[in-house]
Amino acid sequence: MIIWDKDFSVGIKEIDEQHQKLFEIINRLDDSTNAPTNTEKISEIIKELLDYSVYHFSTEEKYFKEFNYEHTEAHIKSHNLYKEKVDQFIIDFKEKDGNLPFEIINFLSNWWTAHVNGQDKLYVKCFHEHGLY
Ligand SMILES: [Fe+2]
Ligand SMILES: [Fe+2]
Repeated sequence: MIIWDKDFSVGIKEIDEQHQKLFEIINRLDDSTNAPTNTEKISEIIKELLDYSVYHFSTEEKYFKEFNYEHTEAHIKSHNLYKEKVDQFIIDFKEKDGNLPFEIINFLSNWWTAHVNGQDKLYVKCFHEHGLY
């Protein structure tokens, strides 16, 4: 389980809400793997997570461009690496008879908590300076 609390807040309403939703999807994925195997359900949730991640990244990247954010390149690179990784999970999942390895949930929880607290928090000053709260 990953619980969003105010320590994860970047102080920007739209982005905090998106992060909360992402945490919620990951928890749902975690739950679904504890239940009796339901391959279709799990694969639906991974797809939902990927789609919502892509949507969330495009929100952040839109502001990077708009505000001419200095760390744009490195940040987009992280987003792209994540997308590649999740794409690969989806392929592996299909090949492994619908067994979702524990490492995937682990990776997702670790990646999101580290990314939100790390790279995401670096843009807060810039976004706030441009009046985005
Ligand atoms: Fe983010
Ligand atoms: Fe990000």
